[in-house]
Amino acid sequence: MDNQRDNQSISPTETAIKARVDAILGRMSLEEKIGQLTQLGAMAFMPGPKPEDVIRKGGAGSVLWLTDRKQFNVLQKVAVEESPSGIPLLFALDVIHGYHTIFPVPLAMASSWDPSVAERAQTVAAREARAAGIHWSFGPMLDIARDARWGRIVEGAGEDPFLGAAMAVAQVRGFQGDVLGAPDRVLASAKHFAGYGASDGGRDYDPVYLSESQLRNTYFPPFEAAVKAGVGTIMSAYMDLNDVPAGANRFLLRDVLRGEWGFNGFVVSDAFAVGNLVIQGFARDGRDAALRALSAGLDMDMASNTYGQHLAGLVEDGSLDVAEIDAAVRPILSIKVRMGLFEQPYTDESMLEQVIALPAHRQEARLAAQRSMVLLRNEGGLLPLSKQLSNVAVIGPLADSMEATEGSWMIFDHKPAAVTVLAGIRARLSAAAVSYAPGPEIKRDIPSMFDDFVPPADRKPDQSPADAEAAYQTALDTARHADLVIMVLGESANMAGEFASRASLDLPGRQEELLKAVVALGKPVVLVLLNGRPLSINWAAENVPAILEAWEPGTEGGHAVADILFGDVNPGGKLPVSFPRKGAHSPIYYARNITHQPETSPMYRSRYWDGLPTPLYPFGFGLSYTTFSFTNLKVSAAQVKVGAAITVSIDVTNTGAIAGDEVAQLYIHQKSGSDSRPMRELKGFERLTLQPGETKTVTFKLGPAELRHWSTNAGKWLQDAAAFDLWVGADCLASLQTEFEVVS
Ligand code: BGC
Repeated sequence: MDNQRDNQSISPTETAIKARVDAILGRMSLEEKIGQLTQLGAMAFMPGPKPEDVIRKGGAGSVLWLTDRKQFNVLQKVAVEESPSGIPLLFALDVIHGYHTIFPVPLAMASSWDPSVAERAQTVAAREARAAGIHWSFGPMLDIARDARWGRIVEGAGEDPFLGAAMAVAQVRGFQGDVLGAPDRVLASAKHFAGYGASDGGRDYDPVYLSESQLRNTYFPPFEAAVKAGVGTIMSAYMDLNDVPAGANRFLLRDVLRGEWGFNGFVVSDAFAVGNLVIQGFARDGRDAALRALSAGLDMDMASNTYGQHLAGLVEDGSLDVAEIDAAVRPILSIKVRMGLFEQPYTDESMLEQVIALPAHRQEARLAAQRSMVLLRNEGGLLPLSKQLSNVAVIGPLADSMEATEGSWMIFDHKPAAVTVLAGIRARLSAAAVSYAPGPEIKRDIPSMFDDFVPPADRKPDQSPADAEAAYQTALDTARHADLVIMVLGESANMAGEFASRASLDLPGRQEELLKAVVALGKPVVLVLLNGRPLSINWAAENVPAILEAWEPGTEGGHAVADILFGDVNPGGKLPVSFPRKGAHSPIYYARNITHQPETSPMYRSRYWDGLPTPLYPFGFGLSYTTFSFTNLKVSAAQVKVGAAITVSIDVTNTGAIAGDEVAQLYIHQKSGSDSRPMRELKGFERLTLQPGETKTVTFKLGPAELRHWSTNAGKWLQDAAAFDLWVGADCLASLQTEFEVVS
């Protein structure tokens, strides 16, 4: 009976794919099957035999980190024409926010609160990467991150599961298109499953302890959304989750991912993670690591060759059944079939130059950067600046840094080519109107592993203290002779990302000292921040009249900064993360549970005695050159039955004199119930463009999906009959409030 139903629900295409996969599998040897589960690291430093020799024997299903484009077709030919079953390879790379045309980093794209921006960005990234020969991107990164010390916060959508899920879906669509198989799209990989953003102390790779309710209510939603959107692969995380490494975690990979969510793609480990199960003190040896990872549901071993070395022996001695190997190989073959790789394994090498030259790609990058930037302060309407300015100083170590403008993950032979902030401002005002001084250089106290990838000949020697002092004085002098100063400060590209956690969130080096000295000159000062994480800019927030959070804005970043500073574009981005006042306040996030001494009462003093515990800038915050009002908040019913939905509507009006964008944000709080719930949770948002005086009505639907939660007490999803507060406004502190009640 069940079989009959299953057969009826499978479409003819699915039946044909399954039959084809079965046929391929039927003619493969065990060694070749294990080969499909092996992803080969093709970096020069990797030990072991030459990639072509492994591929010729059918010993690899995928290759990553290959940067020499000429090699893609060469290796593919070996796989297709010389290996026993001729199965094409999947070429994989980290295409995180652009391949040739670089888009704002993902944290910035989330600041747009406009999922269509992220979708279009990843569509362009996919088109360029595919033209270069890449089939598979290791993105999107979907880790919720509430600790700004964690360097990888830059790669995700920030602290909120609802916003994170929206950005996840958009990026999966952008990378993959509607269905796998389009010649100008790539396979996506939702990573790092799961909980990586909650590492102890924000230290990269450190263990994570999260309750089931934190996982399900906060950390899983972007992944579940990606699975629903059809993501083809999932990458498991490195760290221990509640004492079980994520890459050998049956609860994550079998129970939740496949059992509950019905994921039918394949799971790849993070780099070297299967072998590292031994280093982590989990597996006894490589054999044990291979057995436990595969049994837990991890299909492809990235770069450690632990599967290659041990799976055959495990089958031979009866520890594993061939059926378990087949079950891991099937989804890999199925994806290769769906992607059309058997029909078209090769890349047309003439494509890339045409594709990267498409003007639309740069236009998309500029638009994405414009929409991602967040105006944090604008006292006295200093911004927008006049285009008639004739004597502007641009100061700071990042002002002319292409690397900092492009941001993290630009390591695979990518040559930085961004329009810097200096170049963007010069293009707007004329070179003669703009003087420039970088001030002292900034650098990490401990270098990054990625710094080792820079060829020795390209490495710059450290600035001497005397040169740094001279650079400081020159910068001050340059500022002294200008009518207005634009300071471009923040973090260099290697200060956020992997291997880039830090304890302090202050501006590194002498940047704040220089900022204070420049402000003391009494000139108007604009601060443009280039950074991949929230920074504690407490002094600037009080003393610098205009602050623009530009993040790491990508190839067109400098143009986009100028577009905003000179008023051609009205900023409308909003923070996807809270900005802590100090690194030591991390983790910090708005969706906290209320305590018996709420922060809104005089008992806020129950927290730190050495400063306010509230964020410097709250989640969802961002200013505009115009003003908005929120009025007429209505719910369709004061009471709603469990399982039913209500509609919420709000009028948003542009009350200023110029057109601008506002993001209407809806938050709820369940006031009592089976478990304590966060004081506010985002459950709807919409970015709007409004002309002066224009009003738009926004409607949101709140149904069981928004009103339920995973209950620790009940050990399952629950929708309580309970009273709710509801707010709609411009950030997580929105004050326009109403109520409704869910009744049984
Ligand atoms: C990172 C992943 C990345 C992989 C392959 C790892 O170190 O954690 O995010 O996709 O390397 O480059």
